Amino acid sequence: MKITVVGAGAVGATCADNIARKELATELVLLDIKEGFAEGKAMDMMQTATLLGFDTKITGSTNDYSKTANSDVVVITSGIPRKPGMTREELIGTNANIVKGVVENTLKYSPNAIIVVISNPMDTMTYLALKSSGLPKNRIIGMGGILDSARFKYYLSQALNCSANDLHGVVIGGHGDTTMIPLTRLAQLNGFAVSNLLDAATLQKVAADTMVGGATLTGLLGTSAWYAPGAAGAALVESIVRDEKKVFPCCVSLDGEYGQKDICLGVPVVIGKNGWEKILDYKLNDEEQATFNKSADAVRNMNAVLHDMNVI
Ligand code: LAC
Repeated sequence: MKITVVGAGAVGATCADNIARKELATELVLLDIKEGFAEGKAMDMMQTATLLGFDTKITGSTNDYSKTANSDVVVITSGIPRKPGMTREELIGTNANIVKGVVENTLKYSPNAIIVVISNPMDTMTYLALKSSGLPKNRIIGMGGILDSARFKYYLSQALNCSANDLHGVVIGGHGDTTMIPLTRLAQLNGFAVSNLLDAATLQKVAADTMVGGATLTGLLGTSAWYAPGAAGAALVESIVRDEKKVFPCCVSLDGEYGQKDICLGVPVVIGKNGWEKILDYKLNDEEQATFNKSADAVRNMNAVLHDMNVI
C-alpha cells in the first residue's frame, strides 16, 4: 500500500504522522512545493519510527510527482490556511488553481488513486477535483464532516460531562461556518437521545459552537487547526485501506440523493477499498432538509466562482 500526502504543512504532516503511526502504508510520500520542507518533515518522522515502533517508509519530495507514482490513496492538503477572521470560502482564489494542478499532477503518476480532499473551501475543492479530473465519483472524497462530527462530539461531551467516545453525533452539509449541519435530533449517548438529556438552549449552543469550531481554533492559534483535521484525514484513509466500511459523513458527489445534484456535499457514506461505496439516507425531517438545501445553495454559489475563474 502506497499513500501520498500532498502539502507538508501542519495538516498534511499531522495526517502523515497518523498514517505512519497506524501503519496504514508500506510507503508514505510527503510532497510540498517548498524546497526541502517535505524531505525534512519526512526525515523527522522517520526518526520517530524506533520510538513509536512503526515500519512505514516515509520519503519527502519537493514537487517531484514521479516519487508519488502508483499511490493507492492521495490526500490533498495543499493551499493556504485561513487566518483569524477569515472564512474558508475566502481561500478559493488562491487554492482553486493550486488544487487543480495537484490533481492533474497526481493522476499523471497514480491514475488509479482514490483522492481525499482536505484543502479549503473543501466542498468546492472536492467539486473541482471531480470536474477537472473526470474520475469516477466514488474515488473523490472530501474530508470535512468527520472533523466537524469529532468537534460536535467534543462539545457534546463537555456539555454532558461524559466520554466523547460514548457519543454518536453527525454533522452533514457543507464544511463552512454557516453551511454545516450538526444533526442534534439524531445525536445519542449510548442509545439515549441527547435531546432528552440537554435542554434546547444548551443543545443549540453545542451546535453553534460546533459550526464555528474551526474559526474558534483559528482565533486561538493564529492559523487553522491541524491535530483534529490531520487525525480525521487519517481515519478516512484507514477505512479505505483496511476496507473497514465505516460510515462517515463525507463530501461526495450527489446525484439526486438528499434532493441535490451536480454538487459535492457532506452526507453519510460507507467508506471502503473502492472509495465511498454507498450513501445512507438519514431521512431528514422537513426542517433539516430545508437547512440542507440552504447549505447546498451556498456551496453552489461558491462552485460558480470556479466557472468565473475558468478553472472548470
Ligand atoms: C478546520 C479546517 C481544516 O476546520 O477546515 O480546522
